[in-house]
Amino acid sequence: MIVNIHSNGKHALRQRYFVTGGAGFIGSNVVDALLRQGHEVYTIDDLSTGSFENLTAANRSRYHYFFEQNVLDFDWDGYLKAGDHIIHLAAAVGVDYVAKDSLFTSHNNLNVTQHVLEKCRQYRCSLLFTSTSEVYGNHDRHFSSEDDHLCMHVTHGGRSAYTLSKLYGEFLCQEYAQKYHLQITVLRLFNTIGSRQSNSFGMVVPRFIQHALRNECIAVYGAGDQTRSFCHVSDTVRAICELSKSSSSRGEIYNVGNDVSITVLELAQYIKDITNSSSEIKLSPFPEARQGDKDIKNRKPDISKILKDFGWQPEVSWQEAIFEIVESMKQQNVMKFA
Ligand SMILES: NC(=O)c1ccc[n+]([C@@H]2O[C@H](COP(=O)([O-])OP(=O)(O)OC[C@H]3O[C@@H](n4cnc5c(N)ncnc54)[C@H](O)[C@@H]3O)[C@@H](O)[C@H]2O)c1
Repeated sequence: MIVNIHSNGKHALRQRYFVTGGAGFIGSNVVDALLRQGHEVYTIDDLSTGSFENLTAANRSRYHYFFEQNVLDFDWDGYLKAGDHIIHLAAAVGVDYVAKDSLFTSHNNLNVTQHVLEKCRQYRCSLLFTSTSEVYGNHDRHFSSEDDHLCMHVTHGGRSAYTLSKLYGEFLCQEYAQKYHLQITVLRLFNTIGSRQSNSFGMVVPRFIQHALRNECIAVYGAGDQTRSFCHVSDTVRAICELSKSSSSRGEIYNVGNDVSITVLELAQYIKDITNSSSEIKLSPFPEARQGDKDIKNRKPDISKILKDFGWQPEVSWQEAIFEIVESMKQQNVMKFA
C-alpha cells in the first residue's frame, strides 16, 4: 500500500521496505532512517551476529515489523508485493567470524542472495545489494574504482569465502537486472564505522578502542602501514537509502566510503591519544586464520561515480566518527567487563 505521508515538513510517499540483516550494525541504522522518512519497514534477521537491542528505537514505531528468521525461511510470498523495495544486507560478516567456517560463510551468503533475487524477480521489486571493497583484493593503486580489474589474492580458506560470495552476488545482481529488467543496485561498501558495530568479530576500530579504554596492548597486525578509510555509518546509510529507490542506478555498481585514508598504525595512535590511554601499541604477526590480510595494502575508494550521479559524498570525518564511538563505548562501560 502506498499512502501520502508528511515527513519533515515535506510530502512523500510511504513505501514498503524489506531489510534483510536489519538487526545488524548497518541494517539497524538503515531501518531507523527509513522509519524516520515515514516508510513501513519489515526487518528480517536471524540474530546470528545482529542483536534485538539494535532495534530498540525501531520497535517503538507502529510501522516496524520484526521477523527473527533466516532470510530463507521468511514468508516472502505472504508479505511481498509488486513495487516493494528490498535492501539486502544479511550476510556472514566480520574477519574472525567469516574465517571460522568458510563453507558456512559461502553457503549462507550465496543462498540468501540467490533467494532474495528470485523473490525480487517474482514480485518485480527493487533490490539494493551490499557488496564489499574486499572484491578489489590486492593491488598497488591508491584508489579503487568500479571499473578496475579485480584481483583475488587466494581462493581458499579464511575470508576468501566472504569475498567470493560477495563477488558472485554482484554477478547475479547484474545478470538479474539485465535479463529481467529489474531495478537492482550494487554498493561496494568500504569500512563503515559507528556506535552499534560489534567488537566481537574482529572489526579493527571497536577492537582498538576497547583495548585502549582498558589500557591493554593494542596489537597492530603486519607492519601497520596498510591503509584503510573509515566512513561514518550515517553517511553509508544515506547512500543506501538514496540509491535503493533510484531507477537510474539499475544494474550499476557504486563505491561507498570515505576517500580519506590513514595507516592502521596512525589509527591506533589516534585512538590511544584521544582516550588518554597508557596502552602499548605493538606490531604483531597476523593470526593464523588471517594470513591473507597482510597483502591487502591500500583500501581507499574512488567515489567520483556516486558523486557525479547522486551528489553523494561523506559528511562526517573519520576523526569525528571515532570520537563518537569512543564516547558511546565509554557510556556502555566496557571497562566493567575487563
Ligand atoms: N561494516 C562494514 O564495514 C561493511 C563493509 C563492507 C560490506 N559490508 C556489508 O554490509 C552488510 C551489513 O554489514 P554489518 O557490518 O552491518 O554486519 P552485521 O553482522 O552487523 O549485519 C549482518 C546481519 O545479517 C544477519 N544475518 C546473517 N545471515 C543471515 C541469514 N541467513 N538470515 C537472516 N539474517 C542473517 C546477522 O544476524 C546480522 O544482523 C553486509 O552484507 C556486509 O557484507 C559491511
